[in-house]
Amino acid sequence: MSDEARQDNCTSGLTTTARVHGIFSRIAPGYDSFNALASMGIDRRWRRTLVRMADLGPDSRVLDLAAGTGDLALALAVQGVPAEVVATDFCEEMLEVARRKAESFEGPTELTFRLEDAQALSLPDSSFDVVTVAFGVRNFPDREANFREVLRVLKPGGRYLVLEFSRPPVPPVRWLYHAYLRLVIPLIGALVAGDRASFVYLNDSIRTFPAQAQLAAELRRSGFSHCSWRDLTFGIVAVHVAVK
Ligand SMILES: C[S@@+](CC[C@H](N)C(=O)[O-])C[C@H]1O[C@@H](n2cnc3c(N)ncnc32)[C@H](O)[C@@H]1O
Repeated sequence: MSDEARQDNCTSGLTTTARVHGIFSRIAPGYDSFNALASMGIDRRWRRTLVRMADLGPDSRVLDLAAGTGDLALALAVQGVPAEVVATDFCEEMLEVARRKAESFEGPTELTFRLEDAQALSLPDSSFDVVTVAFGVRNFPDREANFREVLRVLKPGGRYLVLEFSRPPVPPVRWLYHAYLRLVIPLIGALVAGDRASFVYLNDSIRTFPAQAQLAAELRRSGFSHCSWRDLTFGIVAVHVAVK
């Protein structure tokens, strides 16, 4: 996708969408190593919990947004065993890593990868039972556009599951966590990806993202119903579930 097309697709925060794309293109080769170090492997447990919450059946069609290097898409295919997982991202460099990882995937699920901007999907209306996103929503400058698009592509009664960094409700946990974000994350980013600035952005995007109740209210205002969330690891992350 060209920069012009990307900008046409996003009516607000034009620079930010292009900037986010630039950041993930640059850090794609080091992204998995960074994740493993920064979260000490807990991220895999968070994704597995989301898959359980998705409660997929053998006929389910799943769309994974901002799929990045494919960890959630693979977890959905291996653990959830739905009929189909369509893994999408707007960054070819991240998808390249995902495709390589999926080469060894064997199973009944049809797993495909495609370039898509989560704020302007080219997929048909009412075509998915479940839409998922892990650590992607906070990077969308126009969340409303994303919520509109998800409502459009979900079948009636379909669910949107959002795994994202959140706000630990207990103050001392929050202070410790924010200190970790500020001091340790850019350091690991510099060591693993040689790119301290991009990880300062990631850290800022986490600290400024809406807290659990605010995100649930945004989803509700956008037209979802039954919006709820489950805190994981003291509320460092949360999984929101919203129904079309
Ligand atoms: C932090 S990574 C998360 C990747 C993966 N879901 C995971 O759990 O590790 C965020 C991803 O969001 C993607 N992304 C950011 N903005 C996007 C957009 N507007 N449309 C599609 N993907 C986007 C980035 O390219 C990147 O791959």
